[in-house]
Amino acid sequence: MEINTTEERDVQLEHQKLMEPLGDWRRTHDCGSLTAAELKAEVCLMGWVQFRRDHGGLIFVDLRDREGLTQIVFIPEVAPEAHEKAHVLRSEYVLAVKGYVRPRPAGMSNPNMHTGEIEVVVREWKLLNTSRTPAFMVDDRQEVAENLKLEYRYLDLRRPRLSGNLRARHAMAQSIRRYLDERGFIEVETPMLTRSTPEGARDFLVPSRLNQGEFYALPQSPQLFKQLLMVGGLDKYFQIARCFRDEDLRADRQPEFTQVDIEMSFVDEEQVMNMAEGLMARLFKEVKGLDIPRPFPRLSYDDAMRDYGSDKPDTRFDLKLQEVTDIFQGGGFKVFASAPLVKAVRVPGGEKLTRKEIDDYAEFVKIYGALGLAWIKVRPEEWQSPITKFFSDAENAALKERLGMQAGDIVFFQAGDPDMVNAALGGLRLRVGADMGLIDKNALNFLWVTDFPMFEYDKEAKRYVACHHPFTQPAVGHLEKLVTAPASAKARAYDMVLNGSEVGGGSIRNHNAEAQRQMFTALGFDAAEAEAQFGFLLRALENGAPPHGGLAFGLDRLAMLMTGSESIRDVIAFPKTQKGTCPLTNAPAPVEMKQLRDLGLRLHK
Ligand code: AMO
Ligand code: AMP
Repeated sequence: MEINTTEERDVQLEHQKLMEPLGDWRRTHDCGSLTAAELKAEVCLMGWVQFRRDHGGLIFVDLRDREGLTQIVFIPEVAPEAHEKAHVLRSEYVLAVKGYVRPRPAGMSNPNMHTGEIEVVVREWKLLNTSRTPAFMVDDRQEVAENLKLEYRYLDLRRPRLSGNLRARHAMAQSIRRYLDERGFIEVETPMLTRSTPEGARDFLVPSRLNQGEFYALPQSPQLFKQLLMVGGLDKYFQIARCFRDEDLRADRQPEFTQVDIEMSFVDEEQVMNMAEGLMARLFKEVKGLDIPRPFPRLSYDDAMRDYGSDKPDTRFDLKLQEVTDIFQGGGFKVFASAPLVKAVRVPGGEKLTRKEIDDYAEFVKIYGALGLAWIKVRPEEWQSPITKFFSDAENAALKERLGMQAGDIVFFQAGDPDMVNAALGGLRLRVGADMGLIDKNALNFLWVTDFPMFEYDKEAKRYVACHHPFTQPAVGHLEKLVTAPASAKARAYDMVLNGSEVGGGSIRNHNAEAQRQMFTALGFDAAEAEAQFGFLLRALENGAPPHGGLAFGLDRLAMLMTGSESIRDVIAFPKTQKGTCPLTNAPAPVEMKQLRDLGLRLHK
């Protein structure tokens, strides 16, 4: 975007003639630290012009650096030359000032600023650089279009909120490193140019020039390498690792993101989970000063789906789902009578919802594939509902008893395919919980979800795929089921959930090559395919692999939750848009024909 006019550029060029080198000037303070304790001190500050005001012969500037703002004042009587020169100052010009600290005049102090009691009277100053008229004001109060913010990301990074997020992220990484280092974990870097590491997403591919027609894949996670490190006897490993997944983006997903990746040898679930809880407790204590209760509650996958319709339940509020299939089986309301699953959620106080609000919810559940949304409003005298005319007295009574229905409630129903019913009603639960203000914003509800199924059925591909990843060990006694009863096979996998967000996940791995081969068979690989793609892993497992397991945290998601950010983009220095582009660098971009030729590639028109 071009916003500077020719005249503005001419002015900037003119002002650039006034630029001076830093020379021997050195900062004595940052822009966020001076208080009445430093009155009369001679100081040197450097930073950006936040704002310039001219007032009765005086020129005021708010000078900004990453630590904050300090008001500086140019007074003709104190420094005529410095004052005269200050007329060139514009937003985002970069300067160095020398001067002395004085109290602000009576009534002019600003209790909302750390430096609000004082100002710095300028004796001399240097223009270090000019700036174009910024594409947007560097100010947390401005609402700016997302693409513009990303195009001028460096301006956005000058805003206190964003730089604060990056500093919180830094503090998190340091805290994590200290905790793991103290416990004997060794930080190891694993390759970025590698083979496919299947985690259920598409790979980003990199063509090889030296081996034309062949491709590296960027890692979806360091999964296979960390297992190889365990075979290599490293015992305890971690890495703050970049991962790449070519999938559709959402508010909490980026195509490249960061994991805190951890693996341990000679352990079972308990030791991994205990270590991970300790890590979270340490992190929240050091970064937020908060004590997290331990041990974290645990919920099996089946119970989580039953009560919340989700494998990452937000347990900060109740509104549990309840199954009512049996009540209506073979009854008078056809939609419910023949459905494989009918569930209900009772919302106390929901009787007040308007028709419009209910219609909005009915529209909302359509994104999950729901065809409608049935409801009952419980009034003191009667039930109001579009569906109760189809119910028998016995059904009404059974429903009332099962759900504990009381005057003032609304009950929502969903009937149909179990995956859809859980997704739609689970999604509605979150939406209603938020709309009704049921979510305690200060709560930190950690929990483990355990006993995951080994597989989920991919309806498009018409086959089973690994629920976690294919290297996860089946639950004790479930190895046979991989092939004979895949739908009921359970995995030694666990996810850590915080306030309804999956912040980490892991498993105990197959360290036995035969068990790993059975997994590949269950996933539909024949022996030759498994050997071609994962022969190196099978070979390693055959070479004395120790029992091992671990997990990975999503550092970006944790940073979002810890900083209260709405979008994952707010905790990543240079994030991508929803379409996977970078408006700052214009990546991805076309390449020269010659580059393609060197790689042995040709584009299809
Ligand atoms: P998983 O695929 O569950 O496990 O990933 C671990 C954690 O990474 C985060 N995450 C993401 N964050 C941002 N954007 C994304 N696109 C994204 N995808 C995942 C989530 C998730 O919980 N190798 C295994 C771990 C193991 O078994 O040890 C793995 O990658 O917070
Ligand atoms: P109908 O008899 O099709 O008009 O549906 C009566 C009510 O049931 C309407 O409020 C619909 O929105 C709702 N409804 C329809 N299909 C379903 C379903 N699968 N689950 C829950 N409610 C439904």
